[in-house]
Amino acid sequence: MSNSAPNSGKVWLVGAGPGDPDLLTLRAARLIMQARLIVHDGLVDPAILAMAHPAAKLVSVAKRRSRHTMPQDEINALLVREALAGRDVIRLKGGDPFIFGRGGEEAEACRAAGVPVEVVPGISAAMGAAAAAQLPLTHRSSASAVTFVTGQCKGLADQDWTGLAGKGRTLVIYMGLATAEAIADKLIADGLSPEMPVAVIENATRPDMRVLRAPVAGLATLVEVNRVKSPALIVIGAVAGSPQTAELRALALEVLK
Ligand SMILES: C[S@@+](CC[C@H](N)C(=O)[O-])C[C@H]1O[C@@H](n2cnc3c(N)ncnc32)[C@H](O)[C@@H]1O
Repeated sequence: MSNSAPNSGKVWLVGAGPGDPDLLTLRAARLIMQARLIVHDGLVDPAILAMAHPAAKLVSVAKRRSRHTMPQDEINALLVREALAGRDVIRLKGGDPFIFGRGGEEAEACRAAGVPVEVVPGISAAMGAAAAAQLPLTHRSSASAVTFVTGQCKGLADQDWTGLAGKGRTLVIYMGLATAEAIADKLIADGLSPEMPVAVIENATRPDMRVLRAPVAGLATLVEVNRVKSPALIVIGAVAGSPQTAELRALALEVLK
């Protein structure tokens, strides 16, 4: 039995990937080209928005100048209102809608209002950045676990950081630029080697991508000196070391065998 509101349109929560339009799924590309109403985040690349149908209405829920986004309940209400008016809505989000994208809340709001909702996955920033920087998040010889965590202030306080980084583990921090120093301090206080490699990947998969490396003890300085800006990811773990160093280490191990 369907609980859908009569004559309701549908909401698609669509992942736009980390930036490069070539990293859209075929389903996302098709939906973007066919849509008449697209509600999008600030992180969605302009080249992806340019794929929209000429008759499509594009609604940004990011106030770019102030860098503040529309409050989440207003976004939820907008999606529900448009769908209940009979319109299909493409809710286009950076990366994957269900990885730090608040897609869960939007899907809940739609379901509660009887609006049918479908989710189209996207390549999350961690996967896009890892591929673009050639940095494997897991590696048979050095990383058998990977954790995605938010560095936002609320996440910083609520999160138990114990054991998240260290031997055999990769830690990927989203939205962690402002709290980088506090995170590095917490991890080192918890026993992480200050020498553990860190890579900071800014604008992953975009033409202006930068990959910066340091030991974790130097993370805050790395971010500050290079004036790293959002969007950026912080990857902590052996896999974040320079590929050259990793190759030399593997070679040395071979020789020592
Ligand atoms: C609100 S979260 C959205 C994450 C998104 N849903 C995903 O799956 O990638 C935004 C954060 O994702 C990361 N991010 C998104 N796109 C990125 C990119 N192209 N390069 C580096 N980090 C990115 C940054 O940490 C940014 O602050």
